[in-house]
Amino acid sequence: MTESIQKHSAMIGLVNPKTPVNVGGIMRAAGCYQANSVFYTGNRYELAARSGEAQYDVDTKNAAKTIPLTRVESLLEQVPEDSKLVCVDLVVGATPLPLFEHPQNAFYIFGPEDGTIPQQIIDAADEVVYVPTVGCMNLAASVNVLLYDRLSKSAQVTADDELIKESRDNNNRTKVKKWLK
Ligand SMILES: C[S@@+](CC[C@H](N)C(=O)[O-])C[C@H]1O[C@@H](n2cnc3c(N)ncnc32)[C@H](O)[C@@H]1O
Repeated sequence: MTESIQKHSAMIGLVNPKTPVNVGGIMRAAGCYQANSVFYTGNRYELAARSGEAQYDVDTKNAAKTIPLTRVESLLEQVPEDSKLVCVDLVVGATPLPLFEHPQNAFYIFGPEDGTIPQQIIDAADEVVYVPTVGCMNLAASVNVLLYDRLSKSAQVTADDELIKESRDNNNRTKVKKWLK
């Protein structure tokens, strides 16, 4: 992926997520955008995953095999010393994401599907950002948007046809018309 993304670190923290579909979607996003690790609190995800609620193959790229997904008691204790804690939620006084400059090393915390990030975590944050949407997004969608925003603002994005060929499915041989000769 991009040099800048590899050198810097982006970690994801989830407050008591509920649905395996969302966690699967977040693992896929972590793989696509090269996040380093995903942490979560609470028991609901594990219980739902164990009780047979399928992940519906959302993480079809099997990012969970290479990116650690770890249950922890405290997200705050996982934030490395050289990382900034960034809370992502609809919080009064938060910075709109389009205006936000991402820290090189960031630990992004997201709230649960049916709640919000606890005030105690927000109080500990270096930054709090929100996406100026009409209504709130789905949890996995918000992680994708955040990571895309980070990618789009990174200094050295590798964006070329080789990456497209590596990233796309085997059955995709499409080309833009001007290259069809
Ligand atoms: C379905 S939302 C939960 C409800 C949300 N806390 C609220 O107050 O409307 C799940 C999580 O997705 C993230 N999220 C959803 N929409 C967002 C937005 N517009 N800006 C920032 N984060 C968002 C937050 O981390 C949120 O806790």
